[in-house]
Amino acid sequence: MASTQHEYDVLIIGSGAAGLSAALTLATSCRVLVLAKGQLNSGSTAWAQGGIAAVLDTGDTFEDHIRDTMVAGAGLNRRETVEFVIENAPRAIERLVELGVPFNTEGAELHLTREGGHSHRRIVHVNDATGWAVEAALLKAAEESPNITLLPDRTCVELITGRHEQRYSGSGRVWGAYALDTATGRVEAYTARATILAAGGAGRVYQFSTAPRGATGDGIAMAWRAGARVSNMEMMQFHPTCLYNLEVKNFLITEAVRGEGGRLINPRDGRRFMEEYDPERMELAPRDVVARAIDAEIKRFGLDYVHLDISHMPPEFVSGHFPNIYEKLLGLGIDMTRQPIPVVPAQHYTCGGILIDLAGRTDLPGLYAAGECTESGLHGANRLASNSLLECFVFGDAAARDILANWGSFDAPPPIREWDESRVTDSDEEVIIKQNWTEIRRFMWNYVGIVRTTKRLERAAHRIKMLYDEVEDYYGHFRVTTDLIELRNLLQCADLIVKSALRRHESRGLHYTLDYPETDAVARDTVLVP
Ligand code: FAD
Ligand code: SIN
Repeated sequence: MASTQHEYDVLIIGSGAAGLSAALTLATSCRVLVLAKGQLNSGSTAWAQGGIAAVLDTGDTFEDHIRDTMVAGAGLNRRETVEFVIENAPRAIERLVELGVPFNTEGAELHLTREGGHSHRRIVHVNDATGWAVEAALLKAAEESPNITLLPDRTCVELITGRHEQRYSGSGRVWGAYALDTATGRVEAYTARATILAAGGAGRVYQFSTAPRGATGDGIAMAWRAGARVSNMEMMQFHPTCLYNLEVKNFLITEAVRGEGGRLINPRDGRRFMEEYDPERMELAPRDVVARAIDAEIKRFGLDYVHLDISHMPPEFVSGHFPNIYEKLLGLGIDMTRQPIPVVPAQHYTCGGILIDLAGRTDLPGLYAAGECTESGLHGANRLASNSLLECFVFGDAAARDILANWGSFDAPPPIREWDESRVTDSDEEVIIKQNWTEIRRFMWNYVGIVRTTKRLERAAHRIKMLYDEVEDYYGHFRVTTDLIELRNLLQCADLIVKSALRRHESRGLHYTLDYPETDAVARDTVLVP
């Protein structure tokens, strides 16, 4: 089947907060193409609840936000990145206000809520559905821009590099990506002078995750295969409070519920158990601490869940602050103004990813990255709540500015080879994909979860090795589908996570192993080189 080369100035893979922030900055003078897997709003951005952290209150300071970020990150953060992002936060919020995001206000000021690990109220929000409002505003602005083309239902398969040039150069220079048009089943080449990966996290590598279905680490896997380094992939964040419900598997109960007074209770004996784990910070300790405490209670008492209770607050305060969660729970028979909410920890955020510098540059010429698929140095060993959307806005914009500033140095892409389908047929055994997806997610949850051991990690590594040949063989023989592309990327990310976890011989932040319970005096990144 013939394929076509579509050429733009800049290609952006991902239409979430990071991708669209970059697109809007670039659109002042470039022709930008944004590709998305599935619908344009199907990434994590639209699911964000709590809000965006920024120093806006007169009693708050950049230094406090920097310190909170580095305490949560257990010292693995890069200080210059933390300063860069936090000092740019007020400007990022201003831009969102200009785009029409209807943040909650209190008088003439933006209303600030509180979340774990923050020493001040500093989270701007739109009720308890901030991401939905942010994504809608960014998409509206992008749709209105004549320089931005938005193409949903394109699943990128592989980055295009020198080895795909018609006149083979073999260089690591990135010229765009091959993407599957899911409507036609064709794989086509989308080329550009510069490419920005903004493809989100790899949460779906775990059986239980708050992340949407498409969070399969495609950006990280594609960058790795093209030759870019990845860093700190063992730092997987588990959110303490995902709803426990047999029908609704991945509904988040925002940390702001604890920020506004919610308490964690052991349903067996009624204890407010955080008193034993972190008596000072209690429910507002950083996520790794709270998630481990819940995990320990669940294991110690053989529980299915613990309770999150905010029913001691006035009913109208609860339903007014959390209207979406209130309605959702009511539909499931739980009245959070009068009853506790059953919760469990679930994978929530990928702290590691493609290594980038302060301008969003990766190791590969022509390739930038921003957002959850990256490791910028902001989060270190554990992300502070509501710092993620912020990182997307700041780095999306920074990457775009760097491209604009260096435009003269970006050559036009050469002719690229068509996607080769001469040796593949349609799959006759889709069941293999489903089986392997389930298997990976299950062993990652059981062996590479909140509490780790070397033996469990080695078991996971062994499983990955066995599945690797099977999946590559399948990929080599059958026409690609989104499920197959995702399976291959999930496995790639699982491998990177386990390899990184095996290399870290200490417990730090989100990486907690019974074999090395101490924290080293010096914090070191786990950098993997392809
Ligand atoms: P995403 O928004 O995930 O977008 C990824 C994009 O890449 C999508 O458009 C997707 O279609 C596209 N894509 C992926 N693979 C491919 C491919 N192969 N080909 C083409 N396109 C592809 N953070 C906060 O700061 N505050 C919060 O309150 C908050 N709440 C959260 C609540 C939930 C339930 C979840 C899951 C996360 C939350 N986070 C929060 C984290 C935050 O939402 C994400 O880290 C952030 O939105 C990531 O944005 P992004 O632009 O990097 O990626
Ligand atoms: C939440 O609302 O609890 C999520 C906030 C975040 O992930 O930063």
